[in-house]
Amino acid sequence: MSHLSLKNDNDPKPSLTGDLDPGLSALIDRLAQGEALSGPELINLIDGRTPALAERLFHLAREKRNLYYGRSVYARGLIEFTNYCRNDCYYCGLRASNAKADRYRLTTEDVLNCCQTGYDLGFRTFVLQGGEDPYYTPERVAAIVQAIRQKHPDSAITLSIGEKPKEVYQLWREAGAERYLLRHETYDSDHYASLHPPQMSRENRLRCLNDLKSLGYQVGLGFMVQSPGQTTAHLAEDLLFIRDFEPQMVGIGPFIPQKDTPLGQEKAGSLELTLYLLALIRLIAPRVLLPATTALGTIDPFGREKGLLAGANVVMPNLSPREVRAKYLLYDNKICVGEEAAECRYCLDKRLSKIGHQLVVHRGDCVGFPLTAAVAPPIPMAFSSL
Ligand code: SAM
Ligand code: SF4
Ligand code: FES
Repeated sequence: MSHLSLKNDNDPKPSLTGDLDPGLSALIDRLAQGEALSGPELINLIDGRTPALAERLFHLAREKRNLYYGRSVYARGLIEFTNYCRNDCYYCGLRASNAKADRYRLTTEDVLNCCQTGYDLGFRTFVLQGGEDPYYTPERVAAIVQAIRQKHPDSAITLSIGEKPKEVYQLWREAGAERYLLRHETYDSDHYASLHPPQMSRENRLRCLNDLKSLGYQVGLGFMVQSPGQTTAHLAEDLLFIRDFEPQMVGIGPFIPQKDTPLGQEKAGSLELTLYLLALIRLIAPRVLLPATTALGTIDPFGREKGLLAGANVVMPNLSPREVRAKYLLYDNKICVGEEAAECRYCLDKRLSKIGHQLVVHRGDCVGFPLTAAVAPPIPMAFSSL
């Protein structure tokens, strides 16, 4: 792992020498102590970043993560069950106008098979993700959720299938879905409008997130790092929104161009800024579940490990059948499209143990989130002890 430049917790505390700006370092210390920073202070912290400052930030982010979650890494089994989408987000390879996308849908039986494979491999959270596919009516999705719930009552079900009316979110909640991932993408209305067609709006996205929260879902929001047109001021607004919304999960990853989309010629987001933001989020929302995303692993061979060393505590290996993986192409060069679920699971096991972390068999709820009485938290168990 010589490519891994981030240090681990056993390393001595980073020294306050070198190019560590005392003013910016003090801002990081205030964040670590739970103080809220203003927008301009966050902008300074992002724009003024240096390797020494980042190292200090990562150290504090790891300390904070370890306080709540230790070195345990929660795994979510991702099932990409449809790549049809009625939307036309300018950045995404699944957008309706992308005639080159090779479309597929998994059946309920396929999804249940993926869950069973995942369950046998030790996964206790399943994430059903897909485009906004009208074929999957609210009732069809509810039936799939119920079927998974019945077969795997000790597992958590997460949905990530976009914007819906509150009644639909409620139906799915009652069917047994407990978590929902819906990135806000950007808090700024104009920036949002520059990334989406006019039928989509930041207001509706926020309405959805508020509805999900009010229905008792564990909610995940997030954004792409360095999506075209993103400024530091936008990022500061995103961080303030995360602080105020108090989500249970935050998914961030670099923007990566997909060649058949309107933004396909734009530059990808950087590893360096994504890691810095991950660590800032860990300090701003210390108990949040923070994935080291597949996009991070796509732009750097050790991106996910580096994400964990910057304060992340979740990985989301793919459980979709191998035949369809290469078709769920949000962005180019996505990793893990040729591997089986078991290969990814063992690969991650090895990768994480090399940096002193371990994948655990656990639903992996957000610390402090009220659990339903029906679901007692299981004792975490290392994957390797299965
Ligand atoms: N359709 C659902 C939705 O939009 O919430 C779920 C699936 S969507 C593909 C999941 C996430 O993929 C989006 O929230 C977006 O942030 C991310 N994504 C899409 N295109 C991307 C790209 N080109 N680079 C990086 N992330 C991308
Ligand atoms: Fe559809 Fe989601 Fe892609 Fe937008 S990001 S086009 S909603 S799959
Ligand atoms: Fe999929 Fe390594 S995690 S091959």
